[in-house]
Amino acid sequence: MKLAGLERAPCHVAVFVEPDPDQGHGLGRRTMPEAVAYSAVIAVHTLWLAARAQGVGLGWVSILDPSHIRTILDVPETWHLVAYLCVGYPEIEAIAPELEREGWEKRRSINIVVR
Ligand SMILES: Cc1cc2nc3c(=O)[nH]c(=O)nc-3n(C[C@H](O)[C@H](O)[C@H](O)COP(=O)(O)O)c2cc1C
Repeated sequence: MKLAGLERAPCHVAVFVEPDPDQGHGLGRRTMPEAVAYSAVIAVHTLWLAARAQGVGLGWVSILDPSHIRTILDVPETWHLVAYLCVGYPEIEAIAPELEREGWEKRRSINIVVR
């Protein structure tokens, strides 16, 4: 659904992580290596909220081949693609998520996912 954004969004942002950076002394990722990617996801989330606050829309596209993106952008082999984002002004504004509006998904009770 957001794939059209790849052709039409004026701004694309590819978010990578270096899985073993010098910075941070390995704290956290010694026991949870995935913490590096989680930190990047938090940054994406913050960008997403800031964008929406300014009326800018953001589509996260995961239906793509990460190694192809790495090659196109010529980044180091070790970098891990966390997110590919299409950023631009939305054509429509809606409170309900698109998947719900299009009948692809139904909202589940919060009691099912929070214990
Ligand atoms: C991790 C993640 C991956 C996503 N991947 C896709 C994707 O590949 N294609 C797509 O159409 N939407 C994808 N989405 C949803 C879009 O980012 C969508 O913009 C988001 O749900 C907000 O828009 P909406 O309110 O219209 O649903 C993904 C969302 C997340 C959080």
